[in-house]
Amino acid sequence: MSAESSIDVQKRIAAEAAIAEIEDGQIIGVGTGSTVNYFIDALADHKHRIDGAVSSSEASTARLKAIGIPVLELNYTGDIELYIDGADEATRSLQLIKGGGAALTREKIVAAASKRFVCIADASKLVNTLGAFPLPVEVIPMARSLVARKLVELGGQPEWREDVTTDNGNLILDVYNLDLTDASSMETQINQIPGVVTCGLFAHRGADKLILGTDNGIEVIE
Ligand code: 5RP
Repeated sequence: MSAESSIDVQKRIAAEAAIAEIEDGQIIGVGTGSTVNYFIDALADHKHRIDGAVSSSEASTARLKAIGIPVLELNYTGDIELYIDGADEATRSLQLIKGGGAALTREKIVAAASKRFVCIADASKLVNTLGAFPLPVEVIPMARSLVARKLVELGGQPEWREDVTTDNGNLILDVYNLDLTDASSMETQINQIPGVVTCGLFAHRGADKLILGTDNGIEVIE
């Protein structure tokens, strides 16, 4: 078995620390990605404490079911107490870029339905300003070209992630070089373009807490 890389250790310890956020009898929201996969692994030993999970992707649904956790429909759960998810970038003010795994829309829906959003990440995800990571935008297929032109008008350089169809049957544009100094304003402007399902900026509804794995252990930002 190959040794865990430093980044993988950081992801794992952040994910394991998030287990302490769970209270008995809760339904929890579960995000998507390699850090969340560590969280799901850790959840296996605590599955009898929760009533089930709302999942943000088909991939996480499969992993949750594989360890025997009931996956529930958000339409029937009402608001969720706790959402655990990763990020591609996070600031100290807890604004995020998400969607590297193309699950941004369901992630944003589950985050919006959750009373607390605890983000888990390795230390490389902490940034002073969002935007070095290209911003994922989920787009209705027939609007791809229109949305791309509108994103250029906003100052970005969109690239179609051609090998990806989202769980919702849509496309992803990754947008480079956007000025995200005012991330809330950019989130609003992009989400108003016809054909955009949502963008991966989590500025209006950021995280409530960030658990970072570092080489020196856990750092918590809230
Ligand atoms: C998926 C996401 C992920 O949370 C994000 O890409 C981080 O992934 P990882 O934990 O693998 O670094 O937003 O859409």
